[in-house]
Formats: sequence, C-alpha cells, structure tokens
Amino acid sequence: MIPKETVELIHQTAVIEDVIGEYVELKKQGSSYRGLSPFTNEKTPSFYVVPSKGIFKCFSSGKGGSLATFLMEQEKVSYPEALRIMAKRYNIEIEERDQSPEEIAAATEKDSLGALVVWAQKWLKDQLHYTEEGKAIGLSYFKNRGFRDETLEKYDIGFCPDGWEIMTAAALEAGYTKERLIATGLGKEKSSDGKLFDFFHGRVMFPIKDVTGRVIGFGGRTLKTEKNIAKYFNSPQSELYDKSRALYGIHAAKPHISKEDMCLLVEGYTDVMAMSQSGVENVVSSSGTALTLGQIHLIRRFTKNVTVLFDGDRAGMAAALRGIDILLSEGMNVKVVTFPDGDDPDSYSKKVSSTELQKYVREDAQDFLAFKSDLLSEEAGDDPLKKSELVHSIVTTIACVQDAIQRSVYIQTIAARLKLPEDLLQTEVAKELQKRIVQDSKRSKQFQKPSISRQTSSSSTSFPGDTFATQVENDLAPGIPARVRAKRDILEDNLIRLLLEHGESMVEVEIEVEDKKETEPVYTKVPFAELFVHRMETHQLAMEEESTQFILSKYIESLDNGDLPTSALFFTDASPAVQSKAANSLIHKYSLSENWENKHHIFSVVEKDVLEESLSSATTRLLLFDVQRNIDKVIQALALKNVSEDETTRLLREKISLDRMVKDLNSSLGVVILPK
Ligand code: CTP
Ligand code: MN
Repeated sequence: MIPKETVELIHQTAVIEDVIGEYVELKKQGSSYRGLSPFTNEKTPSFYVVPSKGIFKCFSSGKGGSLATFLMEQEKVSYPEALRIMAKRYNIEIEERDQSPEEIAAATEKDSLGALVVWAQKWLKDQLHYTEEGKAIGLSYFKNRGFRDETLEKYDIGFCPDGWEIMTAAALEAGYTKERLIATGLGKEKSSDGKLFDFFHGRVMFPIKDVTGRVIGFGGRTLKTEKNIAKYFNSPQSELYDKSRALYGIHAAKPHISKEDMCLLVEGYTDVMAMSQSGVENVVSSSGTALTLGQIHLIRRFTKNVTVLFDGDRAGMAAALRGIDILLSEGMNVKVVTFPDGDDPDSYSKKVSSTELQKYVREDAQDFLAFKSDLLSEEAGDDPLKKSELVHSIVTTIACVQDAIQRSVYIQTIAARLKLPEDLLQTEVAKELQKRIVQDSKRSKQFQKPSISRQTSSSSTSFPGDTFATQVENDLAPGIPARVRAKRDILEDNLIRLLLEHGESMVEVEIEVEDKKETEPVYTKVPFAELFVHRMETHQLAMEEESTQFILSKYIESLDNGDLPTSALFFTDASPAVQSKAANSLIHKYSLSENWENKHHIFSVVEKDVLEESLSSATTRLLLFDVQRNIDKVIQALALKNVSEDETTRLLREKISLDRMVKDLNSSLGVVILPK
C-alpha cells in the first residue's frame, strides 16, 4: 500500500522523457520528443513523448498514456509496481505501511482482502519458522523432502497450526473482519455455532502470488496420509483471487521466462519449488486445473513458447492432453517433456544433478502433436474404433494451430507418423475448420439480439476449466458481433477525440428564448463539451464501447457540477484504452506531425474553426450507422419464417421510414463534408 502523498510526489518528480529515454532513443523535436517505438519493429519513428503534458503516444501500436502506463506496458507490471520503479529511479522512499482499522474499513473490498492475505502470509510464515509446532511438523516435513531454506524463503512457505481457531482469532484481533476471513477462505463458519474455524489448520501453506508478487491466495497441503482427506485445500475464487488468471510461481519466474523465451508448465506447487531449487527457474504451475485463456495470456506477455512437463503416469497424461489444444489456439508453440514412470518434476529433480535436469528439459522436449499422436496410436493399437477416435482427436488439435503453413506441415508429418493418407487428414482438418467458422458465425448471430444491455466484459466470470467458447464470449463485448462493433468504434473514437481535443474551446450557441418574437437571436458562449453532450442527448446517441463510454460519462458528470473534467481523470487509474484515447487527442491537439494531418485530412488544423460542423458531421455518421443497423434488424425479421401478414406490413413500413432517414442523413452529410 503506497500512501497517497507518495503517489503524488512520484508523479510530480518523475521526468517522463528521462525515464522513457532509458528505453527509447529520443530526439527533441519542437516541444516534444520522437523516437522508434519500443513496442513494434518500426523503421520510421512514430513514438512521441510530450513533456508538457506528461504523456507518450505510439502511433504504430496505438498505445499511449502516462509514464506509469509506459512502464506497465514495457515492464509488464501493475500500476503500483510501475510507481515503485519510478520511485526507485528518483530515490523516493516508499513507506509501505500497514493499514489502520479506519483505513481497512474505507478501502475497497479487493484492497481489504489483499491486506488480510498479506497479513496472513506473514503470520503463517512466522508459524513455520518460529513456533515449536511449526518447526517440528512443517519445517521438518520440507527438510525431509529435500527443500532447502532459501527455497522456502523464496516461496514464502508457511504453516497453519493444527488448532481450531488460532489463526482466525489472531486475524480478528488484528482488526480483520469475519466476512473477509470467509471471503479469502482462511476462516470457515462452524455449522454448530456460526463461529469461525481455521480452514487450513494443520497444513503447510503455499502463498499464491500475482505477477507483481502480491499474495492473492493460498494452497494448503495436509501432512496427514489418510486417503479420505483432500491433499490440498485452496483459497476460493474472490475479488482478489481470480483463479483463471493466476499461475503459481509467475512472479519469481517471469524474468527467467523472458530471458529463456520459454515457459515450463508443471502440475503442482512442489514441482515449481523443486525445479527452481535445481536451477530451472522459468517454471509455473496452473495448480492442478485445466489451463484457462487468462493464464495463457499471462504467459504470452513473456513468451510464445511453452513446454508442458507431464508426470510420469500414463493415466494422467491422456487427461492432461485435452487442456493443451487451447494453448495452440492461442498461437503458442507447445512442446512436451515426460518423466520416467512414477516420477514427477519434483522427484526427478531430486534424483539428478541440476545440469542433468536442465539438459533433460531442453533435449527431451518433444513436439506436442507428435507426442500426442504417438501416445494415442500406441493406446489404440489395431482397434479400428479407437483408431478413428484417434484421428478425430488429432484432427481437432491440428485445427487449433493458428498458422496455416505450420498447419500444413503438421498434416504432412502426422500423416506419415500415423501411416494415413495425407489428403484424408487434409480433408478432415478442412472440415473441422469449416465447422468452427459456422459455429463462430452462429455464436455472433446470437449476440445480435435487439435489446443490448451493455455490461463490462472485465467482470471476472471465468473459472478454471471454463470452456473455450464461454471464454471467447467473455472476451467479446456482449451483444455485438466483432466486425460491426469495429465500425462503430471508429465512429465513436472520432467523436470522443473531438470532445477531448476541443472540449474546452468556447463556442457560440444560440439560446432559445421562450415567447421570443421578432427579437434578435440571443447568443452565448459555452464550452464545446456542453454543445457536444447536448447534441448527443438530442439525437439520443450513446457510446457503446467501454472506454468512450467512460470518457463521455466523465464529461457529463463534470458538466453537471458546472465543471470540465481534468486530464488527470483520463490518465490516473483509467483503463489503458482510455489513457490511449486521451493521449491520442492531446498529441493531435499539439499537432506533432504534419504527416498526421495529411493522413487524417477530414479534421485538420482548421477543425477548431468549424467545430460545429465537425460535430454535426460526426454525430450524423453515428446516427446513420445506428439507423443502418436497425434496417439490418428489420431485414432479418422479415426473413424469418412464420411472420404474420400484419407483422410483415408493419416491418415494411418501418423499413421505408428508416430508408428515408438514411437518405436524409446522407444528404445532410453531403452538405457538411463538401470539399472547401
Ligand atoms: N491439487 C489440488 N487439490 C487436490 C490435489 C491437487 O488443488 N486435492 C492441485 C495442487 O495445486 C497440486 C497440484 O494439483 O499442487 C498437483 O497435484 P499433486 O500432484 O497431487 O500434488 P503435488 O503438488 O505434486 O504435491 P506433492 O508433491 O506434495 O504430492
Ligand atoms: Mn505431483
């Protein structure tokens, strides 16, 4: 938790061109700086830094925002982590304080859960190292398994004593609430009297951290050997712990994953620790669940190459195979390492030397598809039914490979491996791909329901094991097919840019005075933002894309308070999309590149003088889009079977009136955009 004053101090102290200058060679150009984008491989510089505004904008990747945004992108860290980097650079000391009870009450739910698990992690670690029970039971367990002190330290391993309410009592005493103990899974209510007990009692504790190193949850392993006790307990899904985006070990592994350009994926907590102890540090675990899209995207920030390390039991392998298609679908290169029967990465790493282990992982890695087809064909033997299942399963996997060339190479090699005719495999894969296209388009049709309630797609509705399909749906804004949405997004962007760029400009508007007869029209000056919002409202136009919606709502909120929003609203705490839009418009405002004007000649420097026309033209375009969308819906409704005659007449009438609107709107646009 960084105190607010320190956050401000950091922002005030950091010099954007100095910090970014360490990543990008910047050349001064007027009041700004220019360089080659660090995000793409561009040859001509389109990366700008504007010190007076404290922002950067990269035209080749579309990214833009504050210095903190830049560091978040470049270093792949969270906002607080970016602040810490800036603070370090300027020797600003951050006193990360514990929260007082008042602060705990005032913070957001996520913050509070975060504070509790941080407290718990320290408490549990102390139990392991400094209590008799912890040392005798927990510590000796790890020692027996060959884990060294520095490894336990690296992963902040802890121990929950085997009492009933030792931990919960300590947590309540420290000011944490019962509700939050339950939400983090650290406490559970007894059915008898509703009192809390320690959910993890008698277990060794593995804190699970996010990519920035903050604790978000726990896994707890029992030390008992009874079969009827679950080996692991895990924290439940919560606002803090989104299981579909968490990977055990990612914080410690990420620099190594980047450096090796390879991520090793193992099954369990102890596998991660053991590999790391043996000097193989680019390793993470999905903690026993099927990989999710969120987890893959996390890995993809650092590498496109994944090697999956399978435990050496055959039964487990076939099940684990299924989870891998999703990696291919996300364009990852997948390899597989298997261990001798009965061994897992943990046990194997303790049998061989560190050098041998590294060599084994590097040299025994097999291509995933080759591995899968070998494994399955071995299992199928000569059974024709099993063989056809095998082909089907392989075809499904090949169809997941994103790159067309790679796909056809696979078809060749796998056909040879399975002794199948190549064109048979070719046809089957083509059919599978066809099927997916049809499914996709069906899915997007379903989204086209007329009443669209917009909700943010960021709400975390995904859980481990979610099917690929629902994940895809979550990634799309609900209700609108991607292609159509893109078109409206462009129109919205254009409008929001006008607002951001010229919101403060004063424009003259005519005031309608009631009962006004034959008098001179009355004019007044208002900020352009006022006119903008008025125009949107009179046409009943709305923003649909999340970031433009956010920006417009901030304007409306401020105008209602007789004010205009400050750019800080769009740079601190806002989403990357919002920051980028804000930066984009500022760059345009300070007109950095003539080329930029030439490219986007619809709105040039003179735009300011013709603001009203620009606004009217941009709103008309959006209106036109919406009317067109309604026409499409009417046409669809007409095409349905079983439409009654009355209904058909009504629909046709509606279509005629909508067509007329299109014509009117087009002609009014024609007037506005006639070349001067
Ligand atoms: N797991 C779980 N719940 C269980 C069993 C397993 O959540 N009841 C998860 C844990 O994240 C565990 C992983 O699946 O780390 C792999 O399971 P397993 O191989 O059984 O455990 P290991 O981590 O290998 O533990 P150990 O080496 O102590 O046997
Ligand atoms: Mn295991």
